[in-house]
Amino acid sequence: MTYQHIEVKPISGALGAEIAGVDLSQDIGNAVFSEVQQALHENLVIFFRDQELTPEQHKDFGRRFGTLNIHPQYVPLDGHPEILPILKEPEDTLNIGDVWHTDVSFLEQPSMGSILYAHEVPDAGGDTMFANQYLAYETLSDGMREMLDDMTAVHSDRILSNPASAKNRNDGRSTVIKEDAMTEEEITNEHPVVRTHVDTGRKSLYVNDPFTVRFSGMTEEESQPLLQFLYAHATRPEFTCRFRWEKKSVAFWDNRCTQHYALNDYQGQRRSMHRVTVNGERPI
Ligand code: SIN
Repeated sequence: MTYQHIEVKPISGALGAEIAGVDLSQDIGNAVFSEVQQALHENLVIFFRDQELTPEQHKDFGRRFGTLNIHPQYVPLDGHPEILPILKEPEDTLNIGDVWHTDVSFLEQPSMGSILYAHEVPDAGGDTMFANQYLAYETLSDGMREMLDDMTAVHSDRILSNPASAKNRNDGRSTVIKEDAMTEEEITNEHPVVRTHVDTGRKSLYVNDPFTVRFSGMTEEESQPLLQFLYAHATRPEFTCRFRWEKKSVAFWDNRCTQHYALNDYQGQRRSMHRVTVNGERPI
């Protein structure tokens, strides 16, 4: 695809592109919007530099792509329920997202995409990695793909809502899980193991370590060996890219066909981000 309004520079062979020529604080017109959307479909995660975004402008940009999610477990930014502060203070030992995952896959209609904006970043470290889940699916053997095509899996929020796990996390980090989220019933939903993207028509692998607990019709113990194989396969280095943040950078990833991993390698430094999460459709 050629672009008339924006510049699109891929950053790896697998996925990810830096976009230039867009000011996200402005109401982007339909022509720019459709090229940004196209760039997301082609590159799965797109990055913008030097953006000046207020929380309202951040949310407005997200709303161009759908309704905004209010995270069921995390305490939101004051006055902005749709913004999740992703904050690691120098004394925190834990961060958010240092395991390969796709956002909120335990919801009935999980997220289509997340838009993360950097307010403060460490001098070095705190990069985010992304993995292409179309490639993860396409590189499996014919036999494995045929088997997975007919399977569904159970996704759960228990890693966040289980009181012991949540308390342990809250002790080590500044982005905190709400007390009432720990007493609510576990959220579980079943999704296809291989989903078809509603816009691109491509199939991708849709299981992830923190939230997928078992295949439907199997026990957790029975499911684990194959799930562990799929997690390792899905994040092979050649399916990934790595983004080096700067203050005022934005990353926008498609949760339907990627996984991501936030590195926790900047102990003693502060990293402060805001995330807007756009709702998606029930996976098919
Ligand atoms: C996340 O959304 O999982 C966090 C990503 C990051 O902080 O880089």
